[in-house]
Amino acid sequence: MKKFIGVVLSIVMVLSLVACSGGKEKESSEGTKEGSGSGKTVGVAMPTQSSERWIKDGDNMKKQLEDLGYKVDLQYAEDDVQAQVSQIENLLASGVDCLVVAAVDSSALVNALAQAKSAGIPVIAYDRLLMDTDAVSYYATFDNKGVGTAIGKYVEENMDLANTKEAYTFELFMGSPDDNNAVMLYEGIMEVIQPYIDKGTLICKSGQTSFEKSNTLRWDQQTAMKRCEDILSTYYADEKLDIAFSAFDGLSYGIKAACEGAGYKVGEDWPMITGQDAELMAIKNIISGSQTMSIAKDTRVLAEKCVTMVEAVLNDAEPEINDTEQYDNGKLVVPSYLCTPEAVDKDNYKEILVDTGYYTEEEISSDSE
Ligand code: BGC
Repeated sequence: MKKFIGVVLSIVMVLSLVACSGGKEKESSEGTKEGSGSGKTVGVAMPTQSSERWIKDGDNMKKQLEDLGYKVDLQYAEDDVQAQVSQIENLLASGVDCLVVAAVDSSALVNALAQAKSAGIPVIAYDRLLMDTDAVSYYATFDNKGVGTAIGKYVEENMDLANTKEAYTFELFMGSPDDNNAVMLYEGIMEVIQPYIDKGTLICKSGQTSFEKSNTLRWDQQTAMKRCEDILSTYYADEKLDIAFSAFDGLSYGIKAACEGAGYKVGEDWPMITGQDAELMAIKNIISGSQTMSIAKDTRVLAEKCVTMVEAVLNDAEPEINDTEQYDNGKLVVPSYLCTPEAVDKDNYKEILVDTGYYTEEEISSDSE
């Protein structure tokens, strides 16, 4: 019997040794993970914690890099351009091996990124293109024009714009002019709705259909709310607003507040309000009817793609790229990977967000944010 127990124990010991050494990573004696990133540090500069998506982006990047053994220095700039410049300079001074940046103002980092280049530190643009710099190696993002066309097509289908005899009023609430994504999203929306504006099916009573007139600096909720209040009181005294094309859930919350203030009622004369990012609050609003749709962007997948770029630049390898044409930053066309955005509404949020584990049912049904 003793001999038998001895044999079983030896087998168990051998199996656990194999299990420990077999993975991509293992715990070192100091408790840090060892893997392809062992001994290297990645600086990650994110724009703000005021919006849920960037918190998820930061968490996903940190976790995925740490799982490969990298150390991660994650910084948030709270939408302050100068703060982000200082954070990047500090990351460079601290000797990071690679820099990942989601810019507050995409053109404001030219000098800081030039320092990275001269120090031989590779830079990857995260979700927002870094403009006017040749210091950037790769760009991981979503199909930004595709976000706009998905919003446009959602409205086109759900308002049956192609067949209706009605005319609908609409207003545009676009993103920040210092973010290339905002411009591409606008172009995507306009590509779909311009024919309906030309035909008279869609009418913008404020006339503010250009990007210059409809953008929202720093994607700011209060700015969107104020602009929506002004538009409703100036142009919609006698007629209702039917559609608010919002480029981001944060802007949609501002539009919602302005509509409430102007006396619109959900289920009666509430306008169709779009959005982007599928934030938890937005999904709750979609369920209760005060927002119609949003765009789901799986930040886990984006982080995964970005991490493969980090691995590539540090190991002199080629990451997977699926766009080498669209993202010209003024200095070079940045090789990019575009993840796929998906329109989400009350009919498919479970399938897209709950079944995939992005949110739990409990998070969605809880009263608090
Ligand atoms: C991102 C959007 C986000 C917006 C506001 C853009 O650069 O692509 O997903 O809604 O910034 O944070």
